Amino acid sequence: MIRVIVAGAAGRMGQAVCEAVEGADDTVLAAKADPALGVELADVLGEADVVVDFTTPDTALGNLRACLDAGVSVVVGTTGFDLGAAREAAESAPPGGNCFVAPNFAIGAVLLMEVSQTIARHMPECEIVELHHDRKLDAPSGTAKRTAELIGAAGGNVHEPIHSVRLPGLVAHQEVIFGGEGQTLSLRHDSIDRRSFMPGVLLAVRKVGALPDRFTVGLEGLL
Ligand SMILES: NC(=O)c1ccc[n+]([C@@H]2O[C@H](COP(=O)([O-])OP(=O)(O)OC[C@H]3O[C@@H](n4cnc5c(N)ncnc54)[C@H](O)[C@@H]3O)[C@@H](O)[C@H]2O)c1
Repeated sequence: MIRVIVAGAAGRMGQAVCEAVEGADDTVLAAKADPALGVELADVLGEADVVVDFTTPDTALGNLRACLDAGVSVVVGTTGFDLGAAREAAESAPPGGNCFVAPNFAIGAVLLMEVSQTIARHMPECEIVELHHDRKLDAPSGTAKRTAELIGAAGGNVHEPIHSVRLPGLVAHQEVIFGGEGQTLSLRHDSIDRRSFMPGVLLAVRKVGALPDRFTVGLEGLL
């Protein structure tokens, strides 16, 4: 059994992750860390094989460092923090744990990113519109930034700015619109329930400890 601690366990994503970990056959929920529950991650870290972090942009990096310093692997879903600093932290940490980060754990969103790269080779001009619930702290979303990076690497030209919509009623949605001579092509992904992220989170929990690199970004690398 993989012993999992959820950091941010009282949050919207954290609660869904706790349920998923409790529902899987090969994982056990070792602890719920969240200041809102009166439990600090540092106090329970010794009980985990893997920590799953869905917290806030200003706490994710500190949590990730604490995990790696303790030799515990960490799966990070939090967005809006410095990925370069996270990579540095992971690559200079004492041996033991690995760090896996995904801006989006939903298979549909990962496929949208994959297909966008193929389209960009033929229709490079595009714009990204991302739409999220109104309590999301960062903009543009981590998914949109990652999509733009991948499209750019495939030869596409993502027009600036990325458009961020924040409204009650939304969960997590993204559209990529490609424009060519006399035609457009639109791709859209909608996470309408946070359960959409859970198979990806569990896959990362199972694989993070055996990854070949200390720091890995993107669910596509695990599929
Ligand atoms: N990667 C993905 O697929 C994906 C999907 C959805 C959301 N997200 C991201 O996940 C993050 C969390 O989103 P949410 O909607 O659940 O937010 P939320 O505000 O509902 O929950 C965040 C929780 O983190 C807790 N927290 C704050 N500091 C902490 C610390 N130091 N240690 C432990 N817990 C701490 C808060 O008390 C809160 O309960 C955001 O960055 C969001 O963008 C990622």
